[in-house]
Amino acid sequence: MPGVRALCLSLCVVSCALNAPQRRARAEHVDVLVLLPRNASYIFSVAAVRPAIELAQRSIASERRLRFAVRYEDSGCGDRALFSLVDRGFAQKPDLILGPVCEYAASDVVRVASHWDVPVVSAGALATGFARRDRGYTHLTRIGPSYLKMARSISALFRHFGWQSALLLYEDDREERNCYFTVEAVHSALEAEQLSTEALSLYPRERAADGEDIARLIEGNEVVIMCAGGDIVRDIMLTAHHWKLTNGNYIYFNIELFNASSYGNGSWKRGDQYDTEAKQAYAALNILTLLRSVKPEFQNFSLEVKRSIRKAGVPDHDSGDNVNMFVEGFHDALLLYSLALQDAVKNGFGKNNGSQITQLMWNRTFEGIAGQVSIDANGDRNGDFSVMAMTDFEAGSYKAVFNYYGINGSFQVLPGFNSDRFTLRERHRPVSAEKSCGLGMSTAMGIVVGAVLGTVLVLALYFFRKYKIIVERRCQQEDYSMGKHHQLREDSIRSDFL
Ligand SMILES: *[C@@H]1O[C@H](CO)[C@@H](O)[C@H](O)[C@H]1NC(C)=O
Ligand SMILES: *[C@@H]1O[C@H](CO)[C@@H](O)[C@H](O)[C@H]1NC(C)=O
Ligand SMILES: *[C@@H]1O[C@H](CO)[C@@H](O)[C@H](O)[C@H]1NC(C)=O
Ligand SMILES: *[C@@H]1O[C@H](CO)[C@@H](O)[C@H](O)[C@H]1NC(C)=O
Ligand SMILES: *[C@@H]1O[C@H](CO)[C@@H](O)[C@H](O)[C@H]1NC(C)=O
Ligand SMILES: *[C@@H]1O[C@H](CO)[C@@H](O)[C@H](O)[C@H]1NC(C)=O
Ligand SMILES: *[C@@H]1O[C@H](CO)[C@@H](O)[C@H](O)[C@H]1NC(C)=O
Repeated sequence: MPGVRALCLSLCVVSCALNAPQRRARAEHVDVLVLLPRNASYIFSVAAVRPAIELAQRSIASERRLRFAVRYEDSGCGDRALFSLVDRGFAQKPDLILGPVCEYAASDVVRVASHWDVPVVSAGALATGFARRDRGYTHLTRIGPSYLKMARSISALFRHFGWQSALLLYEDDREERNCYFTVEAVHSALEAEQLSTEALSLYPRERAADGEDIARLIEGNEVVIMCAGGDIVRDIMLTAHHWKLTNGNYIYFNIELFNASSYGNGSWKRGDQYDTEAKQAYAALNILTLLRSVKPEFQNFSLEVKRSIRKAGVPDHDSGDNVNMFVEGFHDALLLYSLALQDAVKNGFGKNNGSQITQLMWNRTFEGIAGQVSIDANGDRNGDFSVMAMTDFEAGSYKAVFNYYGINGSFQVLPGFNSDRFTLRERHRPVSAEKSCGLGMSTAMGIVVGAVLGTVLVLALYFFRKYKIIVERRCQQEDYSMGKHHQLREDSIRSDFL
């Protein structure tokens, strides 16, 4: 009798093994390659993100019996990411890549991974170029709110308040180019609504105190949208105030998604003789930032992550109570992947089918560590954003005045909101057709990021870029000293901006 039972058992084992697809058994172990900068000065460095990934690993292991073998490699913020990938990848291709965050690093890695059929989930890669998955980014899922999603909140504001034209002022470091990509998205969202935009790039080390040209540019537009460091924003606001352009005829925004310590209360204060004027000027400045939802579990998670980071002796960049969006995002990335893998296994596929798993991560809403995360049908997260404004002019303090929800495109008005602040006192003259003509040309030419390096000097210290000179600049490209810009390869990230 025992012999018969043993036989039955062994038969069953054999038949089970035969019935189950081989992939199903292997799906339990997932090889993950994390590509993030080792340099701890990035808020998304390996040291900052690792504790969150480890927490996710632990909670998934206990709930879903999924084992992750995670390797961390240095992505740098540029070429390094690709080299780390191919050096590791040739030995054994990973089942999943988390990161990179920096645009140029991500661009290389995502294309190779897509070619290898390996899913990539990143809390970065926010540039508009990545939204076109058909351009080689087929296996990318973006769990951070992309710049284009942010920009759609701006175009919704334009629609709602009837604004017609925007001046985009951005700081361009010509390396990581975060503000360039931020403003590129705004340009692209406003252009889609046939609104007029004009753009001016500012180079950090060559600032001027005199801004007559800036003032003239502001006068020609209704809304000024900035992406720059705190000191540059302050200079621009002081300039605008000096030229009496903060009187309600112009609307000002500063986009600052990630660095909570550089906006809000006291951001105008420097302890110099301009503080009083700056406070008055900042009364006209609105700040567009990420809306971070908080649930009780998230506070615990934040505390735990922060404790681990401190234990590792890494500088803590966050002034707020909670960890930043990248840390949160990579935690949820592992969660999202495990949900998709589970579904793939149910459908008889396994971790080897990267395109299938990628598809299963898209068009899906799930409960992340901080709240609901919704990924659209293109694989991009629907982000939520907040607009902050000065509500106490005496103290010069800021509060969120409304929120924008990406999932349904709706606004939520908060106490302290005053519609006068967003209503233009007087209509400006219609904008000339010349600009949009130049704009059309740049789009038609299919200009790519990095191709446009030439600049035209307007003021001794301000560089000025206008759409209508793009063709000229493309021709000059050969003569232009590439210098440190060599890494902005033409094939890197496509863009229709400038
Ligand atoms: C880390 O990054 C910062 C800012 O990008 C840079 O100034 C610094 O030199 C880098 N450190 C190392 C060791 O590469
Ligand atoms: C954030 O902003 C503050 C104030 O402007 C600045 O000192 C700090 O270096 C910024 N942090 C990062 C990571 O950029
Ligand atoms: C937070 O952690 C504490 C102690 O670790 C625990 O008692 C509490 O239930 C946790 N709260 C939530 C909301 O998870
Ligand atoms: C991956 O899954 C898709 C179905 O979504 C299927 O058409 C394809 O053949 C699979 N690829 C592999 C390599 O199994
Ligand atoms: C997204 O999911 C919904 C149901 O959850 C479905 O009706 C819709 O067709 C899906 N969209 C795409 C593009 O797959
Ligand atoms: C800014 O000041 C206001 C009013 O004093 C306060 O309600 C708010 O919490 C402060 N915000 C921050 C981020 O400290
Ligand atoms: C939009 O979504 C947000 C967040 O999910 C929700 O709070 C809000 O009620 C929704 N608004 C509309 C008009 O559906």
